[in-house]
Amino acid sequence: MRLGVNIDHIATLRSQRNTPYPDPVDAVPIVELAGADGITCHIRIDRRHITERDVRILREIIKTSLNIELCTDSDVVSFVSSIKPNHACLVPEREGEQTTEGGLDIVTHGKEIKKTIDILKDTGIILTLFVEPDESIMETAKQLGADAVELNTKVYSETPDKRREIERLKRASIAAHEIGLEVHAGHGLGYHNIEGILSVPHIVELNIGHSIISRAVFTGLEEAVKRMLKLMGKNIQ
Ligand code: PXP
Repeated sequence: MRLGVNIDHIATLRSQRNTPYPDPVDAVPIVELAGADGITCHIRIDRRHITERDVRILREIIKTSLNIELCTDSDVVSFVSSIKPNHACLVPEREGEQTTEGGLDIVTHGKEIKKTIDILKDTGIILTLFVEPDESIMETAKQLGADAVELNTKVYSETPDKRREIERLKRASIAAHEIGLEVHAGHGLGYHNIEGILSVPHIVELNIGHSIISRAVFTGLEEAVKRMLKLMGKNIQ
């Protein structure tokens, strides 16, 4: 199972005071040397946290894999296409939201999503759709041309009834895997709740940000990444 470290939260801290620090770009060698498999960032319509400058430098320096989260806004799509990250993950975006609030409604917005997928895949980008863990929509994700789905673990991370949500995640993961979609998961995952997710079959990638960056404040980024990798069962130095 791969770990993608979401570095948006470093940019969020930077934008709180409009300072040049902390620079999310500086996280890359630390995260990669700690053993993570990739870096994830979200370029928003208003560029309020991760900026185009960040993304250009990230593309230059990342040695593992760059995964960019984006919505279907044509200007953002055109920018991300020009950058050619290894992976892109389509997410919904609502003006004023604090963070991504849920999975994409790929049934209602299928046409717009398909158009964006076609543009991004034309440049060779591997495409993921961020969706709710609902087994009934996996076929639609496949038909739209996605290579992978990232199952939203927000409800799992917040609900006291973890067992029920794990069952939902399992059904969605099996349905996606059976039709050839790669399965990822993310949102709200942390050191205290990762164990349940490891019981969901077929997940090959986790994207985790807030918990890792928060721990890093106290322990340093290297330890925070290594600790998560260890909990994921990875053999690290
Ligand atoms: N995956 C997606 C699609 C997200 O939008 C986010 C949050 O930016 C994450 C993963 C990481 O979530 P967290 O920061 O809660 O670990």
